[in-house]
Amino acid sequence: MTEPLLSIRDLTVRVGRADTAPAILDGVSLDVAPGETLGLVGESGSGKSTLGTAVLRLLPPLLDAGTTGRIVWRGRDLLGLPRRAMRRIRGGEVSMILQDPMSSLNPVQTIGAQLREALRRGGRGDLHAAAVAALVEVNIPSPAERLRGYPHQMSGGMRQRVVSAIGLAQDPHLLICDEPTTALDATIQYQFLELLKTLRASHGMAMLFITHDFGVVSRICDRVAVMYAGRIVETGPVREIFARPRHPYTRALLASVPSTDHAPDRLPVIEGQPPTVGNRPAGCPFHPRCAHATDRCRTVPPETVVGPSHLVRCWHPQETPL
Ligand SMILES: Nc1ncnc2c1ncn2[C@@H]1O[C@H](COP(=O)(O)OP(=O)(O)OP(=O)(O)O)[C@@H](O)[C@H]1O
Ligand code: SF4
Ligand SMILES: [Mg+2]
Repeated sequence: MTEPLLSIRDLTVRVGRADTAPAILDGVSLDVAPGETLGLVGESGSGKSTLGTAVLRLLPPLLDAGTTGRIVWRGRDLLGLPRRAMRRIRGGEVSMILQDPMSSLNPVQTIGAQLREALRRGGRGDLHAAAVAALVEVNIPSPAERLRGYPHQMSGGMRQRVVSAIGLAQDPHLLICDEPTTALDATIQYQFLELLKTLRASHGMAMLFITHDFGVVSRICDRVAVMYAGRIVETGPVREIFARPRHPYTRALLASVPSTDHAPDRLPVIEGQPPTVGNRPAGCPFHPRCAHATDRCRTVPPETVVGPSHLVRCWHPQETPL
């Protein structure tokens, strides 16, 4: 494997500095290679957004203080980086798109002013021409006119494309997408994913794609990491995970849909509730909901290699086809 762009090791995020404080993320390790798209999937509350936000060092102070481990970006540990250097990376080498585009746009500034500001930080010369070109790249019609408009004058899908144009203004190496299509209806969602694929190819960037939608994973991701209760429980190439899911949680998520052609649009409901932060059971946190649990599952399972680039954290990885 080529040298990873992003290498997260044993990342733990606690609600405060104390060793006994509840952990939102518990020993997460993952790599993203240059140009690769890694999907991060899991139920609500599993810690996906916390992970994306931690990479940009944008967690609230209490969680930032409770963050330990390593987040190595192109050879440098972001957790030890001074604020100023971190600001240069954020929005520059690494950028983020969120579920609600309005939260990233300033409602009282024109689209042009916001885009030019991002392009100026990226050191572009003719800012107006660059802003027009940036809107053309994300398929916004009448770009010169749109630059004079405000976010509220656009549809949700168009706003999300503007946010992407701003996110790409500095030509990032990594784009973190946190559920960017969840608020869009099905047709617009499809168009936006197709656009992201084109932009990924033309900018040669990697993506960390956070979603709870396996349909989205099958359309855009190369590899997928499945999260449960603040831990990565299974990782592997998308095709391999769809064809041979080994962790009971991944299998429950994919139960009715063993192939990428029939990926579900939403996570199916699994019996029982995921544990809340601070109430996670010891050992394998999935054991109260797992049909395969044994006494052994009351201790933390190690990570096991079960195939090429396929890792699973379970005492009893499943062999049988779904
Ligand atoms: N500042 C905080 N203090 C305490 N707990 C927090 C804080 N921020 C988040 N959490 C908790 O951490 C857990 C993980 O939150 P996170 O937003 O990362 O989940 P998620 O996987 O992105 O969920 P969703 O799919 O709903 O977006 C949640 O249970 C949440 O309540
Ligand atoms: S370790 Fe045990 S409880 Fe956890 S997923 Fe595997 S079989 Fe189920
Ligand atoms: Mg989230």
